[in-house]
Amino acid sequence: MSLLFQGLSLREVHLPNRIGVSPMCQYSARDGHVTDWHRVHYGARATAGAGLLIVEATAVAAEGRISAGDLGLWRESQIEGLAHIARQARSQGCVPAIQLAHAGRKGSLSLGWEPQRGLEISEGGWTPVAPSALAFSPAFPIPAELDEAGIAGVIEGFAASTRRALEAGFEAVEIHGAHGYLLHQFMSPLSNQREDRWGGSFEHRTRLVREVVGAVRSAWPERLPLLVRLSATDWIDGGWDIEQTVELCRVLKQSGVDLVDISSGGSSAQAKIPVGPGYQVPFAQRVRREAGIPVAAVGMITEPAQAEAILAEGQADLVLVGRELLRNPYWPLQAAEALGETPAYPKQYLRAVPFRRSAG
Ligand SMILES: Cc1cc2nc3c(=O)[nH]c(=O)nc-3n(C[C@H](O)[C@H](O)[C@H](O)COP(=O)(O)O)c2cc1C
Repeated sequence: MSLLFQGLSLREVHLPNRIGVSPMCQYSARDGHVTDWHRVHYGARATAGAGLLIVEATAVAAEGRISAGDLGLWRESQIEGLAHIARQARSQGCVPAIQLAHAGRKGSLSLGWEPQRGLEISEGGWTPVAPSALAFSPAFPIPAELDEAGIAGVIEGFAASTRRALEAGFEAVEIHGAHGYLLHQFMSPLSNQREDRWGGSFEHRTRLVREVVGAVRSAWPERLPLLVRLSATDWIDGGWDIEQTVELCRVLKQSGVDLVDISSGGSSAQAKIPVGPGYQVPFAQRVRREAGIPVAAVGMITEPAQAEAILAEGQADLVLVGRELLRNPYWPLQAAEALGETPAYPKQYLRAVPFRRSAG
């Protein structure tokens, strides 16, 4: 039996296999609310055999959006549309998860398919917030430095959005601590130049992510798993790195985090990233081995045999697939076939299955 199609239990939630749909912004929300596009996009992926579907970065505050097209959970009215997505996934045997996010200084931007630039207030933009008043690049807005009350508001935003995610029927929450967004901005010395208790030492720079994890864990039932996505490295000397990631993951494990999802980069426009097949997998492996916590690997994992080998070599417990699932939503069914498993096609499609069983 292939490892990719073995189940994975996290607390009381059982994933039927070890393929997850990586969170991917669709930039198609209206005032943070789900639209028809989300129903089509997530519905298609829910029928395609992945064990876990992580809904895109969903903002915990209006000013925490990357763009005006981001989903949100900062208002009660945003629950209903997301409840539909969660219900659709559950009905297909796919575990629905949601990524909760705050973009910090990488907010008030154009939509994902437009040339990337900061929006003026007059075109519907806003002043983003950050640990320090440093723009990500000249094309990005200069953020306002968060004060104590603002930081407390961010933590409360994560907790309140977690309660709404529960009401919407999600079975897992992922905190977005990667890609140069707010929590990572606090963690990385490249973006955090504070001298108060939120900046400076490792302990101070990781205080916000630790406090957010504590607040989310308290708002999220014991029976349900909590995931955190981290950038293992900034790919810049003097930035956040794999050693700090391992140290943080040891702490997160003690704080009730069930799995860390290991990505990289996003802090600096100057980073040189050696992108290639499975290029982030060694970071996941190191966290798994040295921090002793279950991990997800992500990043240019596109081949069934590659995904299987990552599990077989003990590099990760779960494999997340991003762009390949945009190109080809049925990748999980095809991967099952490639690995000698019976693909779990929806019964409505059984007569179309290009597989031995359908011949008779
Ligand atoms: C269109 C698009 C949107 C994305 N949005 C998010 C997001 O909302 N949250 C996140 O953590 N990563 C996001 N990512 C990163 C993916 O989840 C994934 O980590 C990355 O694409 C690498 O995996 P891949 O090579 O399988 O695509 C996005 C990527 C793409 C292509």
